[in-house]
This record gives sequence, C-alpha cells and structure tokens, in this order.
Amino acid sequence: MPLLTGKVAVVTGASSGIGRAIAVLYAGEGATVVLASRNEDNGRVVAGEILAAGGDAVFIKTDVSNERDCERLIKETVRLYGRLDIACNNAGTMGPAKPVGRLSADDWRHVMDVNLHGVFYCMHYEINSMLPHNSGVIINIGSIASQVGFKNLGAYAAAKHGLLGLTKTAALEYAENGIRINAIGPGTIDTPMARSYTSPDKYAQFRKVYPVKRYGLPEEVAGLALWLASDYASFVTGAFIPVDGGYTAQ
Ligand SMILES: NC(=O)c1ccc[n+]([C@@H]2O[C@H](COP(=O)([O-])OP(=O)(O)OC[C@H]3O[C@@H](n4cnc5c(N)ncnc54)[C@H](O)[C@@H]3O)[C@@H](O)[C@H]2O)c1
Repeated sequence: MPLLTGKVAVVTGASSGIGRAIAVLYAGEGATVVLASRNEDNGRVVAGEILAAGGDAVFIKTDVSNERDCERLIKETVRLYGRLDIACNNAGTMGPAKPVGRLSADDWRHVMDVNLHGVFYCMHYEINSMLPHNSGVIINIGSIASQVGFKNLGAYAAAKHGLLGLTKTAALEYAENGIRINAIGPGTIDTPMARSYTSPDKYAQFRKVYPVKRYGLPEEVAGLALWLASDYASFVTGAFIPVDGGYTAQ
C-alpha cells in the first residue's frame, strides 16, 4: 500500500533538485502534489512527468519571498483539493559566496527573504489550513548550515539557523493540534544549487570532506522527507535530522 494515498501535499521549490525529487516520490506514494516554484517552465515539466507516470499533480507559480503568493498557494490548494495534509517548505537560494564584510545588505535581504521569511509565510498559511482538521505534517528543508557555520555563506547559514528555531518553536506550539513539524539538514546534495557555489574543480575536491567521500543525491533527501510525512513518523516532531553522509558527526 503506498504511504501517502489520499493525501494532499504542497512542495515548494519543486521545479528542480531536492524539491523535484520529493514531489516525484510523494506522487509515486499516492499523494496529490501541488508543485510551487518561481520557475514556471521547469515546474510545469515536473508536473507533466508526474501526470505521465499516472500520478496527480498541479503546478502553481509562487515566489515564496512574496507573502501574498504563499497565501494564494495554500488557499488555492485547499480550494482545489479541500485540504492540505503535508507541506514541504524546500524552496531556497544560496546567494553569493562572500565573507560577511563583502556581503551587501541587498544580498543579505534576498537570502533572508527567500530562505527564512518565505518559510515563515508558507508555514503561517499551512498551519492555519491544517488546524481545522487537527492534523498535518510540515517538513522544512534546512541544511547542515542550520547547525554549523560555513565560510562565505553568512546569510545562508543565518537563515537556515533561523529556520531551525522556527521549526522547533512551531512544533511545540502545535503539538497538541496534531500537526508535526520537523526539519531536514542536507549536506551537499548534487543539484544545480550545489554546483553553482564554486568552480567545477573545487566542487569535485570538496567531496573529500565528507566521511562517505561523495555527495548526496536528491532522492536520498526525498526518502527522509517521505518517512517524515508518513505515519511511520507519528511520534516525531520538533526534530532536526541531518542527511549529510556523516559530515556533522565529525
Ligand atoms: N543542494 C545542496 O547541497 C543543499 C544542501 C543543503 C540544503 N539545501 C536546501 O535544499 C533546498 C533545495 O535546494 P536544491 O539544491 O534542490 O536547489 P535547486 O537550485 O536545484 O532548487 C531550488 C528550487 O527552489 C526554487 N526557488 C528558488 N527561489 C525561489 C523563490 N523565491 N520562490 C519559489 N521558489 C524558489 C527554484 O526555482 C528551485 O525549484 C534549498 O532550501 C537548499 O537551501 C540544498
């Protein structure tokens, strides 16, 4: 029996990388998936792939740094499908790789707008749509940078640390309402975002800092996002779970 039969799920940043893998896996496990992203062309391609494989999906163009877009995404989901069961807040951006002394205030604001404010906007509307049903699951995609610092990624690490505080706090606030809220901390996962961080040579070298001596695959993050969304994780809330090939164990 598929794990998410009859569930309605929203995945932000579903047009690429980790979000795409989560949306495809959720749909394969029987969920109706609402894919959200700024990138309309790629988002519609992923929705088309899910439909072609016999799944159920729709794409809604969304910029998560815009509160009205997040409100519309969740309200439209409820209008179309009657409820929201699972929300995976995955959309994110890395921003320019610069030390804090060279990072502009505009760069700082953009990363915070997408990676932290965007997660808050989505959670706000997701929680309010879940409360009447006394159930729901929210999965926020943080990073190992939710736990440790990274040179040249000050805004990114600050936003991802903030995401973790928001996740734990909301988990406490809504535990008695049947809403589970957790965060995943991927290490380097081989996606367009990870490759954009540095030169191809440095990218190839950096994998040696991982105990497993390789980067992760989007599907390896999606596996945990599926488990957390499923009833197998019914006693798990307020947790931060790394998927990092042992990086933060060092
Ligand atoms: N790839 C990694 O190494 C890695 C490591 C740790 C955490 N993460 C996190 O995983 C998530 C997904 O990253 P990825 O590697 O798959 O990146 P990616 O660049 O492949 O995908 C990012 C997705 O987010 C969307 N997006 C970006 N800004 C948006 C906005 N303002 N509104 C709506 N959608 C927006 C993009 O369109 C795309 O669909 C991010 O939150 C990222 O911080 C990635």
